[in-house]
Amino acid sequence: MQWDTRLIHDGQGPDPLTGAVNVPVYLTSTFAESAPGRAKGYVYSRTGNPTRAVLERVLGRLEGGAGALAFGSGLAATSALLMAYPSGSRIVAGDDLYAGTWRLLQVARSHGVRVDFIDTSDLANVRTALAESPRADLLYLETPTNPLLKVTDLRGAIALARARRTRVAVDNTFASPVLQRPLEHGADVVVHSTTKYLGGHSDLIGGALVFRSRALLEKYRWYQNTQGGVPGPLDCFLVLRGIHTMGLRVRAHCANARRVAAFLAGHPRIVRTLYPGLADHPGHAVARRQMDDFGGMVSAEVRGGLGAATRVVRRLKVFTLAESLGGVESLVNVPARMTHRSVPAELRARQGIRDGLLRFSVGIENADDLIADLRQALA
Ligand SMILES: Cc1ncc(COP(=O)(O)O)c(C=O)c1O
Repeated sequence: MQWDTRLIHDGQGPDPLTGAVNVPVYLTSTFAESAPGRAKGYVYSRTGNPTRAVLERVLGRLEGGAGALAFGSGLAATSALLMAYPSGSRIVAGDDLYAGTWRLLQVARSHGVRVDFIDTSDLANVRTALAESPRADLLYLETPTNPLLKVTDLRGAIALARARRTRVAVDNTFASPVLQRPLEHGADVVVHSTTKYLGGHSDLIGGALVFRSRALLEKYRWYQNTQGGVPGPLDCFLVLRGIHTMGLRVRAHCANARRVAAFLAGHPRIVRTLYPGLADHPGHAVARRQMDDFGGMVSAEVRGGLGAATRVVRRLKVFTLAESLGGVESLVNVPARMTHRSVPAELRARQGIRDGLLRFSVGIENADDLIADLRQALA
């Protein structure tokens, strides 16, 4: 089956009990048992819920994994992932990550985990970090990254990790499984904020982990139940509904982002435009190889720093100034003051997250309207 068919049907047959074509929303916390310990498959909704089970099955199939576990947010998923790394563990992570992930890794540090942040878009850095002692237990990648849209060569990085028996987790939120499937490149775990392209309508918060092996899936099923950061059934339903149109949406996001990136790259008030689809992007060739298109996220730096960036975002009318991404509506964010404010200024400066940087989540409105909006705001 092709993608557009799979997004609607793969793992989502009619409800076996009633024939409902959409999964029912099982709004229940607990399930009756016919005798102590004898239930019909579900006991308590933290442990398992039938609506969540369908979402987990679908996510597992879309990423090509043994299965998935859904969480109440992307960060709840990542914090469950980190439960397997106690004090004394070593994690090598990308240096340009969603700031919430960076914060979680600071917490891991405070608990005695060694965390080394490196620029994983250069495989030489990955090779050096993984060669160091003690052996890294986990390589945590994001590609494309938030907010600088850096691209890591998944196949190359995963090969280096395998040689050292280091587990690899990839945050696939920016790409979505429509464009990139890290398990196909040998990753062990995929992380998602389902809040973004999977949900697609900015109406829920959710997350997921998808596993290549059944053994890891079952290990983390225990962590999921123990940590307890699970999503409610209505949010699971909304993610499933979003997935139905994800093929159409992601194609439209990509087409609009290409137009927006080309416009920004040619604008005199823009110092640099970061989009993996641009031929001069350092990760363009790798992105072309490992992604089916270049995604809907574009970052660009306005000449004149924070003051100029603030004036531009105030003038935008179609783009809404807001955190988050991946919904049908176009959003703009100033990372230095919004999503990445919690990263210390000197660290942001070292990484290249300058005060004039704007991060656009390009929506699926008419592209001419988006360009006209940017043109008037930058005039
Ligand atoms: C790449 C990436 N990963 C993870 C997260 C965290 O997801 P959530 O906000 O659903 O906790 C975000 C949120 O913006 C993100 O952009």
